[in-house]
Amino acid sequence: MDIPDRCEALRGARVVLGVSGGIAAYKAVEVCRRLMDAGAHVSPVLTRGATRFIAPLTFSALASEPARTTLYDGPEPIPHTRLGQDADLVVVAPATARLLGSYAAGISSDLLTATLIATRAPVLVCPAMHTEMWEHPSVVENLAVLRRRGVHVLDPEAGRLAGGDAGKGRLASPAAIVEAATAILGSKLSLLGVRALVTAGGTREPLDPVRFIGNRSSGKQGHAIADELARRGAHVVLITTTDRQGPPGAEVVRVGTASEMERAVLAHRDCSDVVVMAAAVADFRPKVAAATKIKKGDGVPDIVLEATPDILAALGATPVAGQLLVGFAAETAGSREALLGAARSKLAAKHVDLVVANDVAAPGVGFSHDTNEVIIVGADGSSTDVPLTSKTAVAGAVVDAITARLSPPPHTSKELT
Ligand code: CTP
Repeated sequence: MDIPDRCEALRGARVVLGVSGGIAAYKAVEVCRRLMDAGAHVSPVLTRGATRFIAPLTFSALASEPARTTLYDGPEPIPHTRLGQDADLVVVAPATARLLGSYAAGISSDLLTATLIATRAPVLVCPAMHTEMWEHPSVVENLAVLRRRGVHVLDPEAGRLAGGDAGKGRLASPAAIVEAATAILGSKLSLLGVRALVTAGGTREPLDPVRFIGNRSSGKQGHAIADELARRGAHVVLITTTDRQGPPGAEVVRVGTASEMERAVLAHRDCSDVVVMAAAVADFRPKVAAATKIKKGDGVPDIVLEATPDILAALGATPVAGQLLVGFAAETAGSREALLGAARSKLAAKHVDLVVANDVAAPGVGFSHDTNEVIIVGADGSSTDVPLTSKTAVAGAVVDAITARLSPPPHTSKELT
């Protein structure tokens, strides 16, 4: 089994690459390319000043997403919160004196500064400016404020500057910037060596070769959890009914029916430290699937259903020592108390360690949405409310809960440095 090491830290990581308006903006193109080569998902954000030096199209052509340049005129109503919440890392290269000043003062006057203020991800700023500006007390103090708040600063190098000048202030090399980004993310690989099995999507139970009984699950939440586990360094086996891409480096098993999912889960569960059953497994299936298409002319068919295997309950009934079992509960509960009650019953009935419960009748919650609102309920009596947010952020909260309960505890970032 390949276990990713620190060099793998950028693989699958969501990186916002902020570019502000200095002559070194052209070097950010190389940073973008290197981040992409390392397997990161790169979202470029250019300030208005940056677009005077380099075209957004250049970044759009190289990055994972088109370059964004504005808070207001793009297709998304609030791009900065989405970018900020989903990011694993924000890199600003080059960071001008104006950008650093706005960030230090909390002034969110454009998409890049708004994203910086909206994110909880680590931030790496790479200043570039003339030596006189670099040494100006305002810049020195702004950087001291940012450093105190935990912002990583990659100091500029000495060398040739714009206009034929020379001195300290030249943007660090793209290689050094990507190396710094790798080191920051590498120290976040808290699940290195952990083996995770995740299921995602709704199963399809065939009636005949063209029809099936299914459900509305999109697989987005299960995939987001698999992505988050992989991002933190876990080795992921993802069993999915969807054709979505799995996280880089993951082993992806595509299945259709509950029986196929059961077989795949049982084949992998013994060597897993954590099993997350996020799939919406059908509870019933046609007792007999017709071998040929059921013809309308033969009249309305009588369809007899039978129960599918309850995979999660089977796992809970035959526990593997030290393995953490996580189930989901998709309910139409109507109130927090009813949802919590249903989650606790499911947790006890299926002998699992954690249940992630959501009320799929609530607005913006569950199937097909990009957002979700859940309660994470523990067998230890704990419950954590995750208010309506992106499925990526929910995945972060679920993986936090998993990490806190893994036994033995996973590597700490200290051990990795
Ligand atoms: N699950 C499973 N196998 C099944 C049905 C469900 O492994 N045949 C798992 C799901 O992946 C999920 C959990 O069980 O983690 C909850 O499924 P859900 O359908 O919401 O609950 P049920 O146990 O089926 O109970 P109910 O229909 O009463 O809600």
